[in-house]
Amino acid sequence: MWPYPKIVAHRGGGSLAPENTLAAMQCGLNYGFKAVEFDVMLSKDGIPVLMHDPDFGRTIAGTGSVATTLARDLFQMDAGSWFDSRFADVHVPSYEDVFSFCQAHQIWMNVEIKPVPGFEQETGHTVARLTQELFRKTGEEAIPPLFSSFSLEALMSAKDAAPEIARGYLLDEFDPGWRETLDSLSAVALHTNQKYLTPVWAKEIKNAGFGLFCYTVNAPARGREILQWGVDGFCTDRIDLIGADFAEDS
Ligand code: G3P
Ligand code: MG
Repeated sequence: MWPYPKIVAHRGGGSLAPENTLAAMQCGLNYGFKAVEFDVMLSKDGIPVLMHDPDFGRTIAGTGSVATTLARDLFQMDAGSWFDSRFADVHVPSYEDVFSFCQAHQIWMNVEIKPVPGFEQETGHTVARLTQELFRKTGEEAIPPLFSSFSLEALMSAKDAAPEIARGYLLDEFDPGWRETLDSLSAVALHTNQKYLTPVWAKEIKNAGFGLFCYTVNAPARGREILQWGVDGFCTDRIDLIGADFAEDS
């Protein structure tokens, strides 16, 4: 039901490095994490890059947006200074580079497909096809990633393009149609906000045979609690407090 790691570094290095960058992946690895979650979006020219926000202003200084910027320009942009001046030479990475880094270090990936509104199908399709190609290129030792998305359309498109790559459906709050949606996607797991999970719902998800993954757990006590409810895994920003070997009885 969940043949994946239990504890996952959120956005690469959680709160210890600039999110969704190669520096973040390295940080997670330095803390012993062999499992990461990160967000993937398309540039203006349709290249998958790591980014959470569609608009600049938070992790990229200034105004502008990912969907109106060419990938080659994004790759020059400072994606680290907002976090700390030590990271001023950290740029927006391509999905391809991060995929290669993770495979080279045997890091499992939860690839969150994060489409800019209006580009749901294109993003799902492009990320899925590129993943398929990169996975084949990596060879026999390649670790299969898991896709997830809040966008049903993007995940459906990923399913059509690369049905063999497993999918988890992301839901913020409870949705009574969750099971139908998972079935329509042939999804292996539900990914949900730990804030709104209840023991009853957790049990239903597990009894229905799905994996159950939560975001984002930053307090060890809460981590122990939801693992006791049957949660299979979660991502964390506090990779310094919740280690890769964290368990419900730790
Ligand atoms: O994939 C789990 C989590 O990352 C979803 O929310 O906004 O942090 O991408 P967000
Ligand atoms: Mg995410």
